[in-house]
Amino acid sequence: MGKEISELSPLLLLLISSGTMGSAAILSFVNECSYTVWPATFSGNGPTLGDGGFSLAPGQLVQLIADPGWSGRVWARTGCNFDSSGNGKCLTGECGSLNCIGDGQPPFTLAQFIIALGTTDNNFYDVSLVEGYNVGIRINATGGTSDCQYAGCIANLNCPPELQVVDVSGSVVACKSACEAFNAAQFCCADDYSTPQTCSRTQYSEMFKKACPNAYSYPYDDVSSRFTCSGSNFLITFCPKGL
Ligand SMILES: *[C@@H]1O[C@H](CO)[C@@H](O)[C@H](O)[C@H]1NC(C)=O
Repeated sequence: MGKEISELSPLLLLLISSGTMGSAAILSFVNECSYTVWPATFSGNGPTLGDGGFSLAPGQLVQLIADPGWSGRVWARTGCNFDSSGNGKCLTGECGSLNCIGDGQPPFTLAQFIIALGTTDNNFYDVSLVEGYNVGIRINATGGTSDCQYAGCIANLNCPPELQVVDVSGSVVACKSACEAFNAAQFCCADDYSTPQTCSRTQYSEMFKKACPNAYSYPYDDVSSRFTCSGSNFLITFCPKGL
């Protein structure tokens, strides 16, 4: 599991207390789904968080510490079966083992973070449906100052048939992005649609936006999707209940 506060290196603690560095952020993961999820982490900058992945039973809370300057993405895996050495597979968000080493497989809902490195920097965070959707995610920035709005979802996504991923029993387990499902420039913001001016929302991104108003529903959705907060911790809720 992740580092406890007491395990932070003396040098890092000195830097933090002398004010040259921003503060570490506590990431609290809460599972409000009626089923177990297996959160996975992928670090772009800084050490691996939570061994790359762990299980989270309904109602369970796990807290991890992200050092100043850490950046990365987090998603939930569902329908996993792991043996005692952590080998196995998941229905969604698959990455190869309990402790992910690389990135996972879309479609999945992503939570993305950049933790401030210096005291004057902001934390950045967002929830993205650009690579599809598997589990509703909400990020609350807690205890910080400045904007600090919640990011993510308020309801389960009602996935249209043409985007559905179903398991062997026919249950919908994930929702593809329109880009993945149709591989068309208009949905992928590619070719003639590769700028914020030429790529706009579609019926699919509108649908995503309804369930997840404060999340990226297509690549140029920045204004209502990317948030900043200074000196905060984060609460990451899977299957958040409506507001
Ligand atoms: C998280 O944000 C939502 C939306 O603003 C709010 O309703 C909820 O109370 C927040 N939860 C916490 C623990 O801050």
